[in-house]
Amino acid sequence: MGKNNVSLRGKNILGLESFSPEEISLVLETAQEMKNIIHRDIKKVPTLRGKSVVNLFYEPSTRTRTSFELAGKYLGADVINMTASTSSVVKGESLRDTLLTIEAMGVDAIIMRHKAEGAAEYATKVVEPVILNAGDGAHAHPTQGLLDLFTIMQYKKKFQGLKAVILGDVLHSRVARSDIWGMRKMGMEVHLAGPKTLMPRFLFEEPGIYIHDRIEEALENADVINCLRIQLERQKAGLFPSTREYARIFGLNDARLALAKKDVLVMHPGPMNKGLEISPYVAYGAHSAIQEQVQNGVAIRMALLILVLTGGKNIEANS
Ligand code: NCD
Repeated sequence: MGKNNVSLRGKNILGLESFSPEEISLVLETAQEMKNIIHRDIKKVPTLRGKSVVNLFYEPSTRTRTSFELAGKYLGADVINMTASTSSVVKGESLRDTLLTIEAMGVDAIIMRHKAEGAAEYATKVVEPVILNAGDGAHAHPTQGLLDLFTIMQYKKKFQGLKAVILGDVLHSRVARSDIWGMRKMGMEVHLAGPKTLMPRFLFEEPGIYIHDRIEEALENADVINCLRIQLERQKAGLFPSTREYARIFGLNDARLALAKKDVLVMHPGPMNKGLEISPYVAYGAHSAIQEQVQNGVAIRMALLILVLTGGKNIEANS
């Protein structure tokens, strides 16, 4: 499977920075096959039978945790969920000891979400099983970046030359970082817009990345808009005046959407603050791919589990 004999077998999925365009294409092609399985009446193939996967989540999650769980189950793996609030972490167990304990039980992959940047990479230094980063602080969220690319390909049938706009709290967003890496690797132009205080300085000089103070200017002729959640839990106070002001100056509403291309695609990683960064009309409107992103998340996570645990050979032969 895959072009040029690319393989992700045994690879830790930490961020899209370390992915080649060929590796990204392999994930997207495999996810397409997975989407066919999701649409079947009986969504179960035995490809990962006998493999076990642990979901280790130190931060809240609806979509990412559930879709990894479903992905593993659809592929026949045993999936265990561990959340910090119901594990020995509340008794003071360290991340290192928790990882070693999970490893001792003989699992094949650990999917991990943690508030600290670099936590997933740290895990790769401590234990042997493959680590899939489900979000580490504001650093990276590679499976979200891949599902966003998969969604763009589904609607636009190409990446090269598309204008993407990422709106809002880029500074605190691991989704933005993973999207930017992925989009740039696939040849898209990336425009960022939002309050100056929420734009990371280090991106100013990057080729193919454009930063705007006015969201209207960024939205002109956009092919894709990704609206980020304002990360109230990661922010220090005072980065924007008030939520009302934010919605008025930077919120994505119908009038602003009209500045983009007629067939613009609107995405949001969820959970949404409706009425703050995005109006309900836009969130549920004709351009929105937000529900589709959720389904695509299951397909992408199935693809990644198969590729890292088996290399992805003979998926259909096994099913
Ligand atoms: C994102 C996350 O947790 O990074 N949500 C998600 O995974 N779908 C985005 C967010 O919390 O704003």
